[in-house]
Amino acid sequence: MNLIAPSLLAANFANLEREMEWFNQSEADWLHLDVMDGVFVPNISFGFPVLEHVARMTEKPLDVHLMIVEPQKFISQVHDLGAAIMNVHQEACLHLHRTVQQIHEAGMKAAVTLNPATPISTLEDIIQDLDVVMLMTVNPGFGAQKFIEHSLDKVRRLREMITRTGAHALIEVDGGVNRTTAPLLAKAGVDVYVAGSALYGKPDPIAEVKALKGLIEN
Ligand code: DX5
Ligand code: ZN
Repeated sequence: MNLIAPSLLAANFANLEREMEWFNQSEADWLHLDVMDGVFVPNISFGFPVLEHVARMTEKPLDVHLMIVEPQKFISQVHDLGAAIMNVHQEACLHLHRTVQQIHEAGMKAAVTLNPATPISTLEDIIQDLDVVMLMTVNPGFGAQKFIEHSLDKVRRLREMITRTGAHALIEVDGGVNRTTAPLLAKAGVDVYVAGSALYGKPDPIAEVKALKGLIEN
């Protein structure tokens, strides 16, 4: 698969209407929404009051990336947004199996994210239950950081694990995705590409989405 998920974190929040307009008109597939709590990551972004407005501005699937401690406390609130994908960090979930189960019971797809230093082997016993595995290709908390090269090897090993176990999970990457890194990631086996600074703030973000799509086609 080759899906693009623009990350709203890089948007101009003083003009969300215009940002959502190009997003809706573009070939982008999912809207990636970064929630930060200042505890799990050293930054704070936006919360549910903002998300509720944003959710009403698009029909495309919402991919809610929770960079927060105890994300299981917010399953029903994320569901009430109408989110298609609830994305939790492995490092933030003491009982990951239960949390994934509860996300599914709420009718959402379950995505589990790994920080750069967290090995994919931590998902060996749950991979079959996941709809998406997201690899952080930068340290979470900020946009516009440099892509961590080692991630390419991690994507390849995750692809092997998925093939070997017959799991159906999509591979998503988040951080430093741009015209240079996207083709490398495509070769390594990525399905979903989150992109913030590569799209927002550009003179023609719709064209940027199209260009990225062209680079990841396989
Ligand atoms: C970082 C966020 C990313 C961020 C990516 O913690 O999870 O989604 O917006 O930004 P870029 O694409 O600029 O690296
Ligand atoms: Zn993110």
